[in-house]
Amino acid sequence: MPVDLLNVRLISTLMRISVVGSGYVGLITAAGMAEKGHQVVCVDVDKSKIDMINAGEPPIYERGLKEILDHVVPSGLKASVDLESAVLSSEVTFICVGTPSDDDGSINLKYVKEVSGQIGRILGRAKSYTVIVVKSTIIPGSTEEHVIPILERESGKKAGADFGVVMNPEFLREGAAIEDFMEPDRIVIGSHDARSGDVIESLYYKFKAPVLRVNLRTAEMIKYTANAMLATKISFINEVGNICKSLDVDVYDVAKGIGMDHRIGPHFISAGPGFGGSCFPKDVKALVHKALEVGVETRLLGSVLAVNEAQPSVMLKLLKTKFRLKGAKVAVLGLAFKAGTDDMRESPATPVVEGLLKEGADITAYDPEALENARSVFGDRIRYAKSVKEAVAGAQLAVVVTEWPEFKTLDLSGMARKRLFDARHIVNRDLLPGDVEYEGLCW
Ligand SMILES: NC(=O)c1ccc[n+]([C@@H]2O[C@H](COP(=O)([O-])OP(=O)(O)OC[C@H]3O[C@@H](n4cnc5c(N)ncnc54)[C@H](O)[C@@H]3O)[C@@H](O)[C@H]2O)c1
Repeated sequence: MPVDLLNVRLISTLMRISVVGSGYVGLITAAGMAEKGHQVVCVDVDKSKIDMINAGEPPIYERGLKEILDHVVPSGLKASVDLESAVLSSEVTFICVGTPSDDDGSINLKYVKEVSGQIGRILGRAKSYTVIVVKSTIIPGSTEEHVIPILERESGKKAGADFGVVMNPEFLREGAAIEDFMEPDRIVIGSHDARSGDVIESLYYKFKAPVLRVNLRTAEMIKYTANAMLATKISFINEVGNICKSLDVDVYDVAKGIGMDHRIGPHFISAGPGFGGSCFPKDVKALVHKALEVGVETRLLGSVLAVNEAQPSVMLKLLKTKFRLKGAKVAVLGLAFKAGTDDMRESPATPVVEGLLKEGADITAYDPEALENARSVFGDRIRYAKSVKEAVAGAQLAVVVTEWPEFKTLDLSGMARKRLFDARHIVNRDLLPGDVEYEGLCW
């Protein structure tokens, strides 16, 4: 069928989709596509996640997700452990499994390869044309060098002729994942062939966003470059912030001053304890590793990582200099790697809490969403509070690590000594009583 005719047919058609891997990206993709009217099955090997999703309960915390699940489960979205029936009944299958780092920083494609093999075997039995879409972040070249050969080998079929292949990177931010997915700045479609790309462009027809069509490895590279750029901005402002601290300058005023320059812009120049989460650290490391593999030195990206890894130590050094930590009762406010999520992966709170424990502090921590995940990181080495009030009761120091909006106004009246360290520039100092000693990280 000519491509434009195919397009006309697909534009008016809501599709049947399966999404493999129902974590942060997979579940948001599945819920978002169902909200747009597509019929979606999300698949995971973790039965407890599947049961929760089918019950309309999000297995992760993300603002607005519960409301969407209430709307789309079970009419538009079903969850299942049965990959075969999901793929066989779909026109499009998304791969959204994790791509962690290996010890040397290189990308670990174990889950992507495993799922590609499983999907390939199922494709061998498929009667109709299906497009396989890689949404997991994978290093440039991986779809061509790993995913397609595995799909072809296991199915006995040919990419481009019997099934389609697309690389469609995801740019959502945890904490704003629903709005980012539903109203993206752009949709990048890297395709093996025009037909595959046309199907996915029509799948996104209801999203009012510019579409960029590229080849597979360019789409992969765009994702890494976006994350490397954002990580660079954070390390840049953190390094400037550390200089500002020594010069008695507030880096947030500096950021405002440079952000008004349209060539620079105001976004992503908020100094703090460093970037974390499941993406920036692992993706920059994977890009650096790939660059070395192909003989390119990465002085800048290596420094971005080094500045980031050092930032919790900069914070601990300041804390040690300003406060006596041995035996001190310390309230840690915020454990998630950023506000709006329960995700503790690579959270700067982890080295900060470990460092405070090493100094002999007695820690009570509070986070509105991440306490359950925090328990698996710190166990019973710290106490957990259900509110700021409970965390700071009797404390000699409170340390804000995550920029949760509720930390803008803090009631520190129960503290034994009212000393506050703010690593996020989030606390409204104008509302703090005069007897609170305030110290900022880079201001
Ligand atoms: N988290 C983010 O903010 C974000 C943003 C953009 C891109 N990404 C990328 O998206 C990918 C997924 O990230 P995530 O944070 O959603 O990961 P995650 O760990 O939250 O979810 C991965 C899911 O895949 C499931 N899974 C593993 N093997 C499976 C299999 N064989 N069959 C079915 N399910 C299987 C796991 O049980 C898990 O639920 C990664 O490549 C990541 O880099 C993540």
